[in-house]
Amino acid sequence: MTPDLLEQGARRVEQRLAALEAGKSNTESGGRSASGSRIAHAAGEVDITHGRILYLEDVSVSFDGFKAINKLSLDIAPGELRCIIGPNGAGKTTMMDIITGKTRPDEGTVFFGSTIDLLRHKEAEIAQLGIGRKFQKPTVFEQLTVFENLELALKTNKGVKSSMFFKLDSAQSDRLAEILVTIHLADSVGRLAGNLSHGQKQWLEIGMLLMQDPKLLLLDEPVAGMTDEETARTAELFLTLKGKHSLMVVEHDMSFIKTISEIVTVLCDGSVLAQGTLDQVQADERVIEVYLGR
Ligand SMILES: Nc1ncnc2c1ncn2[C@@H]1O[C@H](COP(=O)(O)OP(=O)(O)OP(=O)(O)O)[C@@H](O)[C@H]1O
Ligand SMILES: [Mg+2]
Repeated sequence: MTPDLLEQGARRVEQRLAALEAGKSNTESGGRSASGSRIAHAAGEVDITHGRILYLEDVSVSFDGFKAINKLSLDIAPGELRCIIGPNGAGKTTMMDIITGKTRPDEGTVFFGSTIDLLRHKEAEIAQLGIGRKFQKPTVFEQLTVFENLELALKTNKGVKSSMFFKLDSAQSDRLAEILVTIHLADSVGRLAGNLSHGQKQWLEIGMLLMQDPKLLLLDEPVAGMTDEETARTAELFLTLKGKHSLMVVEHDMSFIKTISEIVTVLCDGSVLAQGTLDQVQADERVIEVYLGR
């Protein structure tokens, strides 16, 4: 991208940030309704008439004879924030690998909405369809600024040539500014990503996913390695994203789960052991036995 194009985009983002700052009370409700309609629009592309954005039924996968996922069935409602807990090796990451097309199950059904059979799509197509995934380790571009990282997120899957001439349009610039505020990095827009704290890098990566307006976000251990304060701010962030996006969050940090959770699914030995509110699953004898300890 040429420097003047970069500047144009950056200027627009600065203006938008200033406007957001100036009219905070205004913008908050305005922002909410704007994002709400965006989600309604986004969700419109996925058939959610049956009240499910994600649907897994009797999914199994074996690795060298070991059943990592065993007749796993679960579904997630549009806009839901679903927490997944369970002991090491329960199959949580493998489940995300299956949803995102990284691993093919031996059997079972995996649908995005009512009509999109994810097992018929490749990993890159699934991302395009609107399923964003965040791995545990942040993978931001350390030599680029926060702004450039977010901008780059829009360029993925474009050819080299169109990337070179890529320029943020005004809607994208506004979006970038809103995301900067959402991920608590509005003050760090020009900082090199490599100089951010671990927590800030995680937020930046979530921001990069948000730039693509995913309908479903899969987050694997997002607060691992964060300070308590970063963890608290991440909880706030997820609560803001809920409703606008559907989220599946895998975490071992129970106090974090307590802050954000509605329905908690407990995975064990590749299938659902229990499901309910955190209080309900924490009181479940089988869950105490295999995971929470006595
Ligand atoms: N590609 C693979 N090849 C062989 N075994 C695998 C593969 N992927 C996962 N497994 C095995 O499947 C089981 C489930 O692993 P998975 O990583 O999904 O667990 P997890 O619930 O994410 O655990 P943790 O909480 O430790 O992250 C483990 O026993 C793991 O060793
Ligand atoms: Mg895992």
